[in-house]
Amino acid sequence: MAGKIKTIGVLTSGGDAPGMNAAIRAVVRVAAHSGLDVVGIKRGYSGLIKAEMKKMKPHDVSNILQRGGTILQTARCLEFKRDDVIEKGVEMAKIFNIDGLVVIGGDGSFRGAERLCKAGLPTIAIPGTIDNDIGCSEYTIGYDTCLNTIKSAVDNIKDTTESHERCSVIEVMGRTAGYLALDVGIACGADVILVPEIKWSFEEDILKPIMHSKANGEKRFIVLVAEGVGGVIEMAKKIEEKTGIESRATILGHVQRGGSPSVRDRVIASEMGNYAVELLIAGKQNRIVCMKNGQITDIDIKEGLAVKKTLPTERMTLAKKLGYR
Ligand code: ADP
Ligand code: F6P
Repeated sequence: MAGKIKTIGVLTSGGDAPGMNAAIRAVVRVAAHSGLDVVGIKRGYSGLIKAEMKKMKPHDVSNILQRGGTILQTARCLEFKRDDVIEKGVEMAKIFNIDGLVVIGGDGSFRGAERLCKAGLPTIAIPGTIDNDIGCSEYTIGYDTCLNTIKSAVDNIKDTTESHERCSVIEVMGRTAGYLALDVGIACGADVILVPEIKWSFEEDILKPIMHSKANGEKRFIVLVAEGVGGVIEMAKKIEEKTGIESRATILGHVQRGGSPSVRDRVIASEMGNYAVELLIAGKQNRIVCMKNGQITDIDIKEGLAVKKTLPTERMTLAKKLGYR
């Protein structure tokens, strides 16, 4: 198998994340450096089956390192869950002489990559999602940038919350994962952090700490809520009703997914893109490039998808201690 790869395809799939462009750039440049051709596939798996592809030369990825989003665009291609559509993807890759594919995305995209591999197209997956919710990898491209974007927004909201002596209930992204809420909650000194992974009650986890701090003279409060918990508008109303503290809800939304990637995201994305190309050149396939103990390594896609990541409960406990006022 080693030495057989001549052309590598690259695509981004699922939710975009800052740093995806750095990963694309690394795949294109490292492959070219090794004498390989690269085909960029637009709009994730949708572009693969519709043949929306173009050859990419090293200069095509100039000046993209600092740009958020993905120059290849991304898409959610629901029909890709069908076996006949997976077969079509493999056929299309053959027509364009693609003999190895790099998929940058989240766990849904990895499932597609695994099925493509089984159907005959060697694939390597790179974790790119702001949620940092890939079980087998300590880090996913985009997480650091997103944390810092949320940090700036929450710091701004804190200023006005403080001036008006209010309570701000802020929703951050994370439909099923609370990493963003937890880490920003600690970084910005939230009074309450709610995540989808941990059960909570209004009385115990919201009312009690707010009333305790209020009794000690505190006048402004930040409640940070992951998207998967939801209901921030009703929550703010209920807090105002029960505590008498004027409350406002803010849903940060897609502002969190854009923006120029941080140094950490650019560097890790470059390392992961390089590693993915090296795996394909070495004849490897069906692997997820991941971070373990701070090092870039790889794992079988199925095995990697089976690894569960659990929210560090000790950090949640720390957040509660730090929010004690
Ligand atoms: P993410 O990759 O960020 O987790 P999604 O879960 O939306 O995002 O998945 C992105 C895309 O990956 C889907 O739109 C679909 O094209 C593909 N995909 C997801 N699950 C599967 C699956 N079980 N089989 C094949 N393709 C899948
Ligand atoms: O990229 C991951 C994520 O941001 C989740 O946290 C969020 O639930 C989801 O994507 C929202 O994606 P969209 O608005 O594109 O459907």
